[in-house]
Amino acid sequence: MIEKQEIMMRIFPFKDILSDFESYLNGYITSKNYLSDELKNACIYSVQSGGKRLRPLILILITKMLGKDIKEIYNLGISLELIHEFSLIHDDMECMDNDNYRRGMLTVHKKYGEDIALLSGDALLNMSFENAINELQINNDLNTIKAYKYLFECSGHMGMIGGQSLECETSTQDLNTYFNIILNKTAKLIMAATTCPALYFNCEDEICKKLNDLGKYMGLLFQIIDDRSDGDGIYKINKTKADEFIIYYKNEIHNIIDELRNAGYDTSELNGLILYLFDEEYEN
Ligand code: IPE
Ligand code: IPE
Ligand code: MG
Ligand code: MG
Repeated sequence: MIEKQEIMMRIFPFKDILSDFESYLNGYITSKNYLSDELKNACIYSVQSGGKRLRPLILILITKMLGKDIKEIYNLGISLELIHEFSLIHDDMECMDNDNYRRGMLTVHKKYGEDIALLSGDALLNMSFENAINELQINNDLNTIKAYKYLFECSGHMGMIGGQSLECETSTQDLNTYFNIILNKTAKLIMAATTCPALYFNCEDEICKKLNDLGKYMGLLFQIIDDRSDGDGIYKINKTKADEFIIYYKNEIHNIIDELRNAGYDTSELNGLILYLFDEEYEN
């Protein structure tokens, strides 16, 4: 798993597109005042430990595809990435997955202790809200509100946090439960990444729906492939079915990309990311 992460980072071909956002995010996280140095160090450690920024990248590529200025969605990207970082810190803790390493580095709780890990996750989630409210204070049009509302629905008790909780309470290994868990714990944040730009820029319902489905299929496929590399999840339930679902979701994703292209959108960069994430030669 660590090796796969390292390989993906070495060849990750989207660093240039992300570099401006990356500076914005790093500026955001380092320029804040923190009452506690340990809390500050843990927050910065998590955010700067080498994540791919996949969710902000999707936000950016969809915004480009819609022909809009990517800087307009940087704040949405910050709120989304901070939620993702918080989710990983808590996911790795002893009470959850009890992992020692993430991104080839010690997990936050291994480096700073369980107490600071818990609190740094809380702080990042809170910063995500603060950042959203700050933007809404300046730009309070209905579309911006709709985009943040959807983001927080996807991350909360009916989304990522709900999915994590379902996974904790479930021991049954059936496909329906598995898909309900991964739809919520993983796909919902990817759905936020694909859908929020469409809401923010007030696209037609049909485009919002297509982009929402695209995020769903990308998110489900992303988690199934992650489970394949760990021999986990659906790979413990039914390997043959798992491989069939991979083919099915790849087809669904390519169908949506074709529909978007036929509707006149330039899907080339988004398609490049999809091939990078899901094409066989990169998977193992
Ligand atoms: C890891 O997500 C968690 C899963 C949903 C499988 P990423 O692979 O996007 O994490 P980073 O931020 O790049 O490490
Ligand atoms: C990660 O799920 C999903 C969230 C953190 C919300 P996993 O526990 O399967 O992912 P990894 O393998 O730790 O990245
Ligand atoms: Mg987990
Ligand atoms: Mg985990």
